[in-house]
Amino acid sequence: MASISNAITTPFLLKAVICLGIPDILGRESPLHYNQIAAKINPSDPNPDVVRRILQSLVRNKIFCEDPSGFFSHNNLSSTLVSSKNIHAMVMLQTSQPMVASYSEIHKLALGGSHESAFEVANEGKSLYQYASHNLGFSKMFRAAISETSERFMVAATREARKAFEGIKGVIVDVGGGHGACVHKIVQDYPHLKGINFDLPDVVAAAPQYPGIEHVGGDMFKGVPSGDAIFMKAVLHNWNDKNCKRILQNCYKALPENGKLVVVEEVLDPAEERPVDMDILMLAAIGGKERSENEWNELLASEGFANISLSLTSSNDLQVVIEAYKCT
Ligand SMILES: C[S@@+](CC[C@H](N)C(=O)[O-])C[C@H]1O[C@@H](n2cnc3c(N)ncnc32)[C@H](O)[C@@H]1O
Repeated sequence: MASISNAITTPFLLKAVICLGIPDILGRESPLHYNQIAAKINPSDPNPDVVRRILQSLVRNKIFCEDPSGFFSHNNLSSTLVSSKNIHAMVMLQTSQPMVASYSEIHKLALGGSHESAFEVANEGKSLYQYASHNLGFSKMFRAAISETSERFMVAATREARKAFEGIKGVIVDVGGGHGACVHKIVQDYPHLKGINFDLPDVVAAAPQYPGIEHVGGDMFKGVPSGDAIFMKAVLHNWNDKNCKRILQNCYKALPENGKLVVVEEVLDPAEERPVDMDILMLAAIGGKERSENEWNELLASEGFANISLSLTSSNDLQVVIEAYKCT
């Protein structure tokens, strides 16, 4: 049990090597002795011993390799931390002060009360999205972390889940689309479609322009833009069933008869570690939850969606593409 509670240091050591630029240093030149790494981090006053201790702890977790003479190099896991690969955005988000403070308050959610997430308990009653809208640094970290996983997944989804996108004509609306990278990828691969990226006003105001994509700001709890199809990725898992139903009702209103809803989410299976971890992340960060296949079917059917089907992709993100149709 002590080793489990001491494992809290690992994400912070990942943050430490990222802040020190070590993944990029070893990406340029490797293997390097820890004295050489330290000198490249801070040529004027290096502390090689601290560098060695940080790296050796990560090596014990199979991140980086060390040879007996103190030379370090990348392995498959550590090489994902180089800045060009962007996994570091997720590490920086998870180890940021507002997120760490949230994990420390999870127990309070079990006591009842009005808070929907541990994030609110820890961050002066603000939800994650309210906090992000007032804190540019946190918002940038959040966007970078989300877009890294989304871009990877969308490459696989548009190529492999063709059934979900083929046959859609006209306008596809990405509800909670962030900066619009997902709908941009859909429109790139299915150029007969026009895309609308819908998100909170402050989010779309900071979004880049993409050809064929119109950004629309608003609140999905009040309404969403009309379209021939609606796409929603990693949105519903942010919310409890009551809030999901409100979003789905607005999607239903925005679709024509037999209009298509394409939802991308993880499917909870207690045998799989990652969706269970993600379930706790949702609980802490925003008050949402992951759902099993049955729960997704029931949720969508409860708001008038039928002919529900799921497809897997080869992406290792464990997200599935769920198709459903507005049933009148
Ligand atoms: C987890 S992110 C997913 C972003 C994007 N779909 C993706 O997968 O890359 C959830 C998105 O929902 C948006 N969102 C949160 N509350 C919203 C609201 N009330 N109306 C519209 N969008 C909202 C957030 O700003 C965020 O971009």
